[in-house]
Amino acid sequence: MEAAHRIPLLRVLALLAVVAAGGGRGARTAAVGKSAVLSLRELDGCGVARQTRSARRYDDAKRAEMLGEHKKAGPARTATTVLELKHHSLTAIPDDPTARDRYLRHLLAADEARANSLQLHNAAASTQSSSTEVPLTSGIRFQTLNYVTTIGLGGSSGSAVTNLTVIVDTGSDLTWVQCKPCSACYAQRDPLFDPAGSATYAAVRCNASACAASLKAATGMPGSCASTGGSSEKCYYALAYGDGSFSRGVLATDKLALGAARLDGFVFGCGLSNRGLFGGTAGLMGLGRTELSLVSQTASRYGGVFSYCLPATTSGDVSGSLSLGGDASSYRNTTPVAYTRMIADPAQPPFYFLNVTGAAVGGTPVTAAGLGASNVLIDSGTVITRLAPSVYHAARAEFTRQFGAAGYPAAPGFSILDTCYDLTGHDEVKVPLLTLRLEGGADVTVDAAGMLFVVRKDGSQVCLAMASLSYEDQTPIIGNYQQKNKRVVYDTVGSRLGFADEDCSYV
Ligand SMILES: *[C@@H]1O[C@H](CO)[C@@H](O)[C@H](O)[C@H]1NC(C)=O
Ligand SMILES: *[C@@H]1O[C@H](CO)[C@@H](O)[C@H](O)[C@H]1NC(C)=O
Ligand SMILES: *[C@@H]1O[C@H](CO)[C@@H](O)[C@H](O)[C@H]1NC(C)=O
Repeated sequence: MEAAHRIPLLRVLALLAVVAAGGGRGARTAAVGKSAVLSLRELDGCGVARQTRSARRYDDAKRAEMLGEHKKAGPARTATTVLELKHHSLTAIPDDPTARDRYLRHLLAADEARANSLQLHNAAASTQSSSTEVPLTSGIRFQTLNYVTTIGLGGSSGSAVTNLTVIVDTGSDLTWVQCKPCSACYAQRDPLFDPAGSATYAAVRCNASACAASLKAATGMPGSCASTGGSSEKCYYALAYGDGSFSRGVLATDKLALGAARLDGFVFGCGLSNRGLFGGTAGLMGLGRTELSLVSQTASRYGGVFSYCLPATTSGDVSGSLSLGGDASSYRNTTPVAYTRMIADPAQPPFYFLNVTGAAVGGTPVTAAGLGASNVLIDSGTVITRLAPSVYHAARAEFTRQFGAAGYPAAPGFSILDTCYDLTGHDEVKVPLLTLRLEGGADVTVDAAGMLFVVRKDGSQVCLAMASLSYEDQTPIIGNYQQKNKRVVYDTVGSRLGFADEDCSYV
């Protein structure tokens, strides 16, 4: 293969997203059935560069511009606040092939640890243990491929709000940030939150319900109390993620700033000892189902509804959005929001589940015993979608039949990804898209940018971006990689999940 035809596939993926949702913007593309074709010739630079200008805030001008397409009628009746959502770590991926290989392996191993950790409840109930061996990593270099947003914490007369960048996680409840005086904190980019500098900060009392039942629901463990006696006892939380990451510290309340909104008395974890796969972020925003999650704490204001739009581009400068509240006027969806039943599992309180009843690849339906057989978890904190073995194998067979018809040579598997191709020398790739049919009839078609994972930048190893679970009865997970360029709506009061196509690369 001559070097001249090598494809910058990482950029291809970035543009694919733009193209699929935005209808082209200069690149020649065409939807063919449920496939996406794109020209690789125009991808060299400028098209992408235009999309990756530094992100703008949702100021009034921008909002007005956005609303132009949505015909907002009169003043908003429901409170909504919109935050920027950025991709966190891809810009840190090294160019050097060996370093890149190692880095991606770690990222996917971390993702496997996450996916396995979400199985723990099941594993305990069945004879199967999560026996997959995964390297446990610590430290900033092994970031998960998660999305982040910025919150403001603390402050009052005199003291400034501390802006903190946190991972957005629908798979856990307690929001926490690293706090002074840290006994063991990982390196973060923002300044550490200092409770002493915030006049509105208060430790949650040991006898408060937040320290007992709420914390138990959120973390699996009630708070513990320093038995120093007296009425100033603090409530200590210990949050352990299944992948070995943890945060421990003091349960506290303070003023929270979310976009333009201000919330008093927000309960969060002031983390004094934290370690794990949090990159250089200041902590994590928990958007799960139980009482202490941000959604639940703000339910009286935002009606228990939130939504996000995850950008597909690999630039850290491009933002999608996280929206609290049900006002849809800030959405830029290009298809109507289609809803399916939101399912709860009492054994796994924080998680959002749905029922995937059917699947198709490139418009061709596939059948598998695993479809409709179990609750499927939707999670913003897992990267790669995990399907039941029967579903994965059926979908993969149809994918390889269609995609392989172009004659792309096979490439070795990579980490958890077992279906890879050598795409060097190809100007165009036509990618069959996976469609999931949800209970009630809603169809969600994965964006083209969510179908392939570029291992090698020269295109010589590009993999189907999905993986199989080990066992048919494990919990399937829809990861963030397959949620890109969608408006995903979580309506916890109406108990429904909504999906619509949207170009999430707001600039
Ligand atoms: C925090 O972010 C807000 C909103 O962007 C900004 O106005 C403020 O200046 C920031 N504060 C600090 C201390 O950076
Ligand atoms: C918790 O303890 C404090 C101090 O002993 C007391 O004033 C307060 O009423 C107690 N709160 C509850 C909910 O029991
Ligand atoms: C999913 O929906 C199908 C069709 O309504 C139903 O037969 C099946 O029992 C459901 N599965 C789950 C796990 O709820």
